Amino acid sequence: MKIAVLPGDGIGPEIVAQAVKVLNALNLEISMTEAPIGGAGYEVAGDPLPDATLQLAKDADAVLLGAVGDWKYDKLERHLRPERGLLRIRKELNLFANLRPALLYPELASASTLKPEVVSGLDIMIVRELTGDIYFGQPRGISTLENGEREGVNTMRYNESEIRRIGRVAFDIAMKRNKKVCSVDKANVLEATELWRQVMIELSAEYPEVELSHMYVDNAAMQLIRAPKQFDVMVTGNIFGDILSDEASMLTGSIGMLPSASLDANNKGMYEPSHGSAPDLAGKNVANPLATILSAAMMLRYTFNDEANAQRIESAVKKALALGFRTPDIWTEGTNKVGCAEMGDAVVASL
Ligand code: NAD
Ligand code: IPM
Ligand code: MN
Repeated sequence: MKIAVLPGDGIGPEIVAQAVKVLNALNLEISMTEAPIGGAGYEVAGDPLPDATLQLAKDADAVLLGAVGDWKYDKLERHLRPERGLLRIRKELNLFANLRPALLYPELASASTLKPEVVSGLDIMIVRELTGDIYFGQPRGISTLENGEREGVNTMRYNESEIRRIGRVAFDIAMKRNKKVCSVDKANVLEATELWRQVMIELSAEYPEVELSHMYVDNAAMQLIRAPKQFDVMVTGNIFGDILSDEASMLTGSIGMLPSASLDANNKGMYEPSHGSAPDLAGKNVANPLATILSAAMMLRYTFNDEANAQRIESAVKKALALGFRTPDIWTEGTNKVGCAEMGDAVVASL
């Protein structure tokens, strides 16, 4: 198993180090090679996705990524900014399917800002399309109009085949779960998502056992807070998925708990927490590494077909929580507040 390890910026290196520690503790035959991405790539190669990093990622079976971004790069030209490196690697590797499971560990029911009875038992799989939509649509840019006023443009675009392939991922996952798919769109206003809805309906004919429902994104944002347990699989486009998955993370106690897998058509994948580089926490050993550790578990499950070891990691996380270990973001009265590295150690000890 060849893994490209891309720590990135901010808390990236600290959280990735914990996931690497956990993978090493499993004694698997894996080789891990590190390379810079994001601001770190810009610093060494003047490019947020250096050629050597992209090549390493292409040659690997899977990629483990921390996070990219720092305020200090926000004034660079857009193509040099850290976020562009992340978007490019997703596009170059054709990682169109982003799985973001929002699962509440029972030990964290009181860490959520929502009432325990609203979130207990929560288990939602958010399937976010990752290589299309307004993130990549042309035309885009900022230009000056004839009257001298500036205009910013982005384009929301989806073609049928892009919608169908992400829909298939969602339906296939639903078949292994509770057989419910909620497709989230804004079909009442946006044509791109009107087509989205039509294609989902067409596709559902191939999955007679799956119950397909549709929800407008504004209502979905509200329902996630009102009654999140109504959802099993949610499937949506790139921008709506970005926003709804951050929202859903708070149902699990903290954004530091939400892992992700970004897969291509052959289950090659990039695995990263759903959160960002948290520059406010960087270097302080306080970031929650569990989203990254759980992303490593997803790597074993989806790319390496190693369900047993994926579950070993997930059980070890559960045990560390049951033993009372908490990073500050999930800390509640009566539990044991630890740092990022100590949380990693607690998971390794639980393994
Ligand atoms: P963020 O996710 O980095 O942080 C949002 C909030 O959540 C902050 O208060 C942060 O302290 C907290 N947080 C995030 N991860 C945490 C963790 N593991 N443990 C505890 N608390 C955690 O989002 P932001 O502040 O909007 O963006 C910061 C930078 O990260 C920006 O440059 C942004 O572009 C980038 N970003 C990168 C990714 C990625 O690499 N996938 C994702 C989102 C944002
Ligand atoms: C995420 C992030 C990225 C996105 C940014 C950093 C490009 O927010 O992975 O959710 O918007 O996809
Ligand atoms: Mn995001």
